Amino acid sequence: MNILITGGCGFIGSNFVRFLAHVRPAWKIVNYDKLTYAGNLENLADLAPGARYSFVRGDVCNRELVEHVLRAHEISAVVHLAAESHVDRSILDPHVFLSTNVLGTQVLLEAALRAQVSKFVQVSTDEVYGSLGETGAFTETSPLCPSSPYSASKAGADLLALSFYRTYGLPVSVTRCSNNYGRFQFPEKLIPLMIIQALGDQPLPVYGDGGNVRDWLHVEDHCEALLAVLERGRAGEIYNVGGEAERRNIDLVKQILAILGKPERLIKFVEDRPGHDRRYAIHAGKIGAELGWSPRRRLEEGLRETAGFYVDNPGWWRRVMSGEYRSYYESQVRGRLMGAGGSPT
Ligand code: NAD
Ligand code: TYD
Repeated sequence: MNILITGGCGFIGSNFVRFLAHVRPAWKIVNYDKLTYAGNLENLADLAPGARYSFVRGDVCNRELVEHVLRAHEISAVVHLAAESHVDRSILDPHVFLSTNVLGTQVLLEAALRAQVSKFVQVSTDEVYGSLGETGAFTETSPLCPSSPYSASKAGADLLALSFYRTYGLPVSVTRCSNNYGRFQFPEKLIPLMIIQALGDQPLPVYGDGGNVRDWLHVEDHCEALLAVLERGRAGEIYNVGGEAERRNIDLVKQILAILGKPERLIKFVEDRPGHDRRYAIHAGKIGAELGWSPRRRLEEGLRETAGFYVDNPGWWRRVMSGEYRSYYESQVRGRLMGAGGSPT
């Protein structure tokens, strides 16, 4: 199998490339990534380029280059992870989200169709379903009701991918997973941002009342789910992937502080995110019943291990924070904290 992984220098992508190189050593992996602020070659520094692994720097919107790579490497399957992935950034500037997430997916789908690949996995998110009340969980047939430009762009890409199955017979499967955590996550997302703020004894910005609930999925569990869908998932089908670990943000943040031995007084409640989804929860029965997948890692252990990664690798996160991200951090994270108010519940 010659497989193209887009976004392989990002958080989930780099974990997936490493995982695949380990569990399917005979496969040829091509990692196609634009290296935006979120993409980092250092995430895969332990994987030497060679006959089994190669990296191509490119934009998924670059039709010519995408087609060339599929041809030149005789690609037989695609796992599409490349995306603009941060909700807060999509609120500040939706344009690049539409361009990369929707148009980039269209370019890739057309190229994959031309190359007659045997599988196209569209990696999506539970955020396409919108927000839940206090009970219930998303199933694959829940209506799409995205709240942010990010989730709307992912919903658009999902529908486009499924249309390529129905219209052209491209063997597409869509995965919709909950919030991932683990090694190499970019420090703009909740868990790594809180760990890094806490390590520096800096305030931890919690949006709104901290009562929003997310379901946390260990990135390595997610990698196993992606492989199951890639190898055995049915074409034209959607598979929800969840972590069975629902937590209120405030409880998760307190847990991180406890792991790091830092005081809860570092928590600062800040202005809420506009359109902030209250609760996500995934019903992952379909992938369990059809493909025998279920999450194996417990959140408590996973959080400890993740915190340990950031404690042990300050060079890595200082470097990824020193580039383009610095100005985002200064204006957004510090900006929110300057207007901080409220008190912990
Ligand atoms: P990330 O932001 O860490 O990485 C994204 C990667 O895509 C980066 O390496 C970046 O350089 C690359 N990229 C961005 N624009 C590109 C373009 N135009 N052309 C080529 N490469 C480009 O994201 P992540 O958290 O690893 O998420 C990966 C995928 O999983 C995304 O599709 C995201 O929507 C989805 N997802 C993520 C989560 C999560 O919790 N992180 C949850 C559900 C779904
Ligand atoms: P995030 O990691 O951005 O993922 P998503 O928005 O895709 O779920 O945020 C996870 C939750 O944490 C979400 O409810 C927003 C909240 N949050 C904060 O309270 N403070 C922060 O600084 C960030 C980045 C997120």
